Amino acid sequence: MNIHTYEKAWLIAAMLLIVGFIATITYGSIGLGIAMVDDEGGSIDPNEVFDHEEFSDPGVQQVGEDEYEVYVRAQTFTFVPSPIEVPAGSEVTFHVTSPDVIHGFSVVGTNVNTMVIPGEISTMTVEFDEPGEYGLVCNEYCGPQHHEMSGQLIVTP
Ligand code: CUA
Repeated sequence: MNIHTYEKAWLIAAMLLIVGFIATITYGSIGLGIAMVDDEGGSIDPNEVFDHEEFSDPGVQQVGEDEYEVYVRAQTFTFVPSPIEVPAGSEVTFHVTSPDVIHGFSVVGTNVNTMVIPGEISTMTVEFDEPGEYGLVCNEYCGPQHHEMSGQLIVTP
């Protein structure tokens, strides 16, 4: 082995380390179910939420045999619509935004929990295996009735 080979080996080791770090972060976010705030879901003018194609009249849309898109408005101090009904065993993608202040969108007892920022659409896909009823709560302080901000998700058989 000459010096050049060592240099190459260290270079590869350094690169593997970086890949490892990225993998750890990615795995962490999936494993713990933390929805990262990013622009994956797209952005929206908060002043136009009520005029938006989907968010003006949010609800559940079936887009495939077992696939649903759910549009939710988190607003002071409620979730629209509520209750939300989706069938068990289907792939459900939530799109949540806010027309006013920062809210949270959390499905109690699951790892669905995201911050909802005006101007951002938070998107996450989940599958509910078992039928049941879940509460929706807001985990971000949003004003005097923050503690009363709730909704319901019904997973039908
Ligand atoms: Cu909405 Cu707290």
